[in-house]
Amino acid sequence: MQRGGAYLSLCVTSCAGVQNAFGGQGAEDANFVRLFAVFMVVCTVMYLIVSAALVIAVWRRRQATRTIEDRKHHETSAATRPALIVWTVLIAVGLVGLTIASFFTDRSNAANGSKPRLSLTVTANQWWWDVEYNSPDASKIVRTANEIHLPVGVPAQVTLKSNDVIHSFWIPNLAGKQDLIPGRVTDAQLLPRKTGLFRGQCAEFCGVQHAQMALDVTVESKADFDRWYAAQLQPGRPPANPLQLAGYRYVTTRECSSCHNISGTPAGGHVAPDLTHFASRRSIAAGALPMNRGNLYGWVADPQSQKPGNHMPTVGLAANDLHAIVAYLEALK
Ligand code: CUA
Repeated sequence: MQRGGAYLSLCVTSCAGVQNAFGGQGAEDANFVRLFAVFMVVCTVMYLIVSAALVIAVWRRRQATRTIEDRKHHETSAATRPALIVWTVLIAVGLVGLTIASFFTDRSNAANGSKPRLSLTVTANQWWWDVEYNSPDASKIVRTANEIHLPVGVPAQVTLKSNDVIHSFWIPNLAGKQDLIPGRVTDAQLLPRKTGLFRGQCAEFCGVQHAQMALDVTVESKADFDRWYAAQLQPGRPPANPLQLAGYRYVTTRECSSCHNISGTPAGGHVAPDLTHFASRRSIAAGALPMNRGNLYGWVADPQSQKPGNHMPTVGLAANDLHAIVAYLEALK
């Protein structure tokens, strides 16, 4: 009983809020929720009719076996044939109805993505998301990681790629899943209807840290999105004090710079998350840890103990270097 209660509460809490396929905050997800309700009602009605027919049949059989006469009477019941005809028609109408509902849901989802006004490319890696906002003007391209900002009511086209294995892009509150496959380009359409903070999650097992491959999603007003976008276009903030300067020197000239990019600095690596505005994000390590000083210390000092198997090595930093790096990273708003 206790275990049952625990499972129930787990389901209720894990299905609520920021990661909820029944949230309906995106046009596609709202369509799915409606279609699910239609299927649920039709299938429940059918199930109840079948169950009732079964109960009636058992009951009649018991009555009938009392006398031979009764049995003859029941087996040739005049009501059997019309009941079967009605049942067959009901099944046909139900199936055709579900087919039509599915068709219109599909058409509606296709229409949502037909005129995108925002284009981004999401590339999956073990175990993080590389995010690039596309633009024909190279100076307007924004690159970030493990987060997506979307203006509410604006249809966005998301091009999906993978650098290693198969992953799956899934923001339950907004839309269904789409696989990211190495060597192939797939896409997804997002049309957020309500502002809010949501959580995307890789939905295809992709290695030991599959569960810790999340995506912070912010749906905001167009004005807030434009402010965020303008800030992201800026180069990384220069160090403002001697401690940050020491961190800047370490990050941009030592191990970190060969993998990470920080625009406006010598750090130009592209195989790990872009750090230009790292401190403006809600989490670190692809949603594995909330963004705060304690977690930042833990992550920089020993990433392998925080998220075993990830591709960031544990360098073995001296204490003064660790303090300086954290101070500099915290300033990268
Ligand atoms: Cu990426 Cu699971």
